[in-house]
Amino acid sequence: MGPKPKSDWPMNFAMLIIILLLLAGVCRADTDIYGETPQPAVNRLLELAELTEDDVLYDFGSGNGNIVVTAAKVYGCRAVGLDNNPEMVALGKRNAERNHLGEDQVVFYKRDVLAVPLPKDATVVTCFLTPEMLRKLRPRFERLPDKTRIICYQHEVPGWSVEKVKVFQGRKIFRWRVRQVKVGTKKVCGRNGCSYIPIYDTKVESY
Ligand SMILES: C[S@@+](CC[C@H](N)C(=O)[O-])C[C@H]1O[C@@H](n2cnc3c(N)ncnc32)[C@H](O)[C@@H]1O
Repeated sequence: MGPKPKSDWPMNFAMLIIILLLLAGVCRADTDIYGETPQPAVNRLLELAELTEDDVLYDFGSGNGNIVVTAAKVYGCRAVGLDNNPEMVALGKRNAERNHLGEDQVVFYKRDVLAVPLPKDATVVTCFLTPEMLRKLRPRFERLPDKTRIICYQHEVPGWSVEKVKVFQGRKIFRWRVRQVKVGTKKVCGRNGCSYIPIYDTKVESY
């Protein structure tokens, strides 16, 4: 009879614990990426956006549509949800129907926010997206119309000032205002003569 085989159970137990911890991490990350903004945070976020009925709000990655629906219902502004997932767009539309909101108040479109033409009528843009998405969106955000407010839940736009971050129930809400400041003019000449076109410089202020 040879030596008693060494038990593997301490090693197996340690592996099981590691796998469980990794799974917990993945689930948490999933919640952060695909979760929705909780309704109390939606309310706070829209309060911070200082919405009025004259605003036009776009939610970039609109998910279940709660931000869009609440903006229209509570503040009476027009609101647009953009999401690249058709199931999310359908969810947003159902949410609007349940709340008796017509298409003159809210609309949801299946769009990739990294590719959609920038909305010229936007006065407020909200988003709860990954830092990587926000990094890609940054140059697009910087071309939004003058005075557009950008409100982000949980994740900041990398590279922008975050000196005035708000915290609500342990989660961060970031607010910025895009300013298109006229810094000069450029002379452009054609067949019909010359004209001067304005040159703008973008500034993004945390407020
Ligand atoms: C974390 S959820 C946020 C949902 C909602 N805005 C909220 O705050 O409750 C992010 C949403 O962004 C959408 N999304 C991710 N990448 C996108 C893209 N490139 N274009 C449009 N929507 C996108 C996802 O389908 C998901 O519904």
